[in-house]
Amino acid sequence: MKKEDPSSSTSSQLILESGDPKNQRRRFKRLRRRSFLKGIGVAGAASVGAGLLAQTSSAFAQEGPEEHSGRLTRGDAALLRFAAAAEILETDFWVQYNELGGIPDSEVPGGSGNAPYTAALAVLDEDMAQYIHDNTDDEFTHQNFLNAYLASKGASTVNLEPFRTLPGSTATGSSGKLRLTNLTQLTAFHFPTIEQGGNSLYPSMAQRATHVEVLRILISIGPTETMHFQTWSDKAGNAPPLTAVDPVTGVSVTFPDLNSPPFGGEDFQTNLIMPEPCPFLSRKLPVVSIIRPTQTKGIAMGVVNFLAAMGLFIGQSPEFFAFMRDLAEDADEARRGIR
Ligand SMILES: [Fe+2]
Ligand SMILES: [Fe+2]
Repeated sequence: MKKEDPSSSTSSQLILESGDPKNQRRRFKRLRRRSFLKGIGVAGAASVGAGLLAQTSSAFAQEGPEEHSGRLTRGDAALLRFAAAAEILETDFWVQYNELGGIPDSEVPGGSGNAPYTAALAVLDEDMAQYIHDNTDDEFTHQNFLNAYLASKGASTVNLEPFRTLPGSTATGSSGKLRLTNLTQLTAFHFPTIEQGGNSLYPSMAQRATHVEVLRILISIGPTETMHFQTWSDKAGNAPPLTAVDPVTGVSVTFPDLNSPPFGGEDFQTNLIMPEPCPFLSRKLPVVSIIRPTQTKGIAMGVVNFLAAMGLFIGQSPEFFAFMRDLAEDADEARRGIR
């Protein structure tokens, strides 16, 4: 461990280290917050199962179980836990899209479809409903696999069910279930924007994985997010310029023509869906077509802020934000090769 990099220390080490008392107090506070929050959403491997929700209902009143990394390094477990939380959130919002514009079936149950919404999406591509269904199905498998892998290694898993408090859409076709994410006040065309996040998250985190198998998991899930991203960015490019007003809420939405000035050209032309070659590592090297950005420092907190900034968590509790930031801090502290 390098001395000049205090962020590579574990929390308990930080407490023991002497230094600026203000920093120490902050770190101690953070550790106390962690063990408190861990009781809400992170389940010790032994408590995974049906009793979990009952156990977490009283989590606000008592200290929860300490996190466990099992046979994984603390850093690897933290990387996978953050990925699991991100996938649970992805699943939650794709389920909402599938209920209205996808294909509710035994693979992705819930909701009964919304004909006008599904028809409007079909303007972008007649396969939209199928793509939404399959994207949703992918996210279920991501969250299930990551939590199952953590449990198989004796590590704590992630459970966001205590934060399922948001009402969600009341449109025809919605199941009316409570949600983790809020899709009613988003600032972007969400399908590609959100998958762009996953597209960068996985290669960014993979650089700090210690075990080859954890590296393999991260670099095997990551490219499926890239497939999602490219599919949706292609579909978004098919959107006809229009302004539509929601007949119920009166809210208006405008899709500009991205192929005419000030848009269009190398930066906006909508059929340019392949990665644009760019400088990488050094400008002395030739430009290269890559997934970007993949800067690893602070990636998990960057993702939390990115999701919050688009309005995805409007209405969520302070405990939810504290919990997500806590998972992100742990993931951002992971260092390759440190057990
Ligand atoms: Fe995913
Ligand atoms: Fe995805």
